[in-house]
Amino acid sequence: MDHRHPVRGTARTPRRSGRAFLLLALALLAPACGGGVEGKPGASGVRDPYFPKLGNGGYDVTHYGLALDVDPGAHRLRGTATITARATQDLSSFNLDLAGLTVTSATVEGRPAAVNRAGDELTLRPDIEVQDRLRRGRTFRTVVHYSGSPKTITDPDDSEEGWLRTADGAVALGEPTGSMAWFPGNNHPSDKASYDLSVTVPQGLTAVSNGEPAGTPRTAGGRTTYRWHTPAPMASYLATLAVGRFGTKKSTMAGGITVFTAVDPESAEASARTVSRVPEVVKWEAAHFGPYPFSATGAIVGRKGDAGYALETQNRPFFPGPPSIGLLVHEMAHQWFGDSVTPASWQDMWLNEGLATYAEWLWEEEKADTPARESFDAAYKDDANWAFPPADPPGPSNISDPPVYGRGAMAIHRIRAAVDDDKKFFALLAGWTKAHRHGNATTADFTAYVEKTTGRDLTELWKKWLYGRSRPAANG
Ligand code: TRP
Ligand code: ZN
Repeated sequence: MDHRHPVRGTARTPRRSGRAFLLLALALLAPACGGGVEGKPGASGVRDPYFPKLGNGGYDVTHYGLALDVDPGAHRLRGTATITARATQDLSSFNLDLAGLTVTSATVEGRPAAVNRAGDELTLRPDIEVQDRLRRGRTFRTVVHYSGSPKTITDPDDSEEGWLRTADGAVALGEPTGSMAWFPGNNHPSDKASYDLSVTVPQGLTAVSNGEPAGTPRTAGGRTTYRWHTPAPMASYLATLAVGRFGTKKSTMAGGITVFTAVDPESAEASARTVSRVPEVVKWEAAHFGPYPFSATGAIVGRKGDAGYALETQNRPFFPGPPSIGLLVHEMAHQWFGDSVTPASWQDMWLNEGLATYAEWLWEEEKADTPARESFDAAYKDDANWAFPPADPPGPSNISDPPVYGRGAMAIHRIRAAVDDDKKFFALLAGWTKAHRHGNATTADFTAYVEKTTGRDLTELWKKWLYGRSRPAANG
């Protein structure tokens, strides 16, 4: 696959019929007459260089309202997704991403919409009566009713994501594609939105998600409903839902930040000390990376085997079993690098992993007397970090490979050496998280930002550490 397409490239334009053209011309000439504008279908992907079918064109989601009924024992999910979006073109139809599950009905602006299914793409064609409410710039509401047995997705790198069954429930993890296994949407990191989730589960189980717990759980007829509110924009890959038996704790830390932790009883003893350090880690990272970007934090700790990796799910990272302090530092650093400042495409993954790995090196330097230079040297010696350049992984199966982490962190260390003043270096990191807070950024945004802030031409540094194929001198 050629992965050098621009993200959000020009969508293929269907040939217009002469009649459509005439209608369009008439509509342009007489906009006051209303109606008559023929929209175009939104694109079925945003042309991500690694996952071209992810996301959809023609609209931006501003809010997801998800009402779910989950029965982990029967492995069943029933959902209603209420999606508020703004059209970025005049739309005649548009797509949502959904993997597995069955759509029972859908409406757009309250009127029944025709739904077509092709693989992981749903195409919704709104009723002609409401099509003029899907003109560029207008906000419209889509409701999708769906149900089924949610699936586990195996990625190109063989890791499992989407909906994962656990010993006493399930957990939903979405990097890079899995959110579409449990709700329909615009499944690409470039379209961030706020979320409200309401999840009903069998009494005795707990449902934990991102953001703030909203209200007290309600039990009726042997089922309990939990509500979660995520006001800050969130990329779909960072949305999570964990259903199971959890010991939960809620408190408030400095700055009024809500701390909510959920721990599987089997992991309780072994994780108690590390989980209690969440506020300390958040505070320490805020001192280095800028103010904590969200109103809530915490952790979800499952048990070994729940997943093959931890994930920086927004506000509340997920750990499959008791985390080490280094792993907590890594996932919490993602709240700045990844969750608040989100990669514009999956090619920019090193911006997440390089900086989160560098956070671990900094922690070791300050808390364990291991200078970052030593971590750099160890990473430099490791051949696995030299398989390919971090800003240009060879394909979708490589976006979580060692160079993205280790060599990404080495690039950050080279920037620190170039700046040669720790106060300025940390101000640079905090300036980056401030400049793109709650947004998206590309590698080009990052290199331009660093050059502008330092006032230096760092072309050689980018060439050697981000894009070069061979191992440069360690101090090069
Ligand atoms: N991004 C996760 C982290 O750094 C790890 C991760 C998620 C991962 N999915 C993966 C690692 C797939 C390897 C394969 O914490
Ligand atoms: Zn990471």
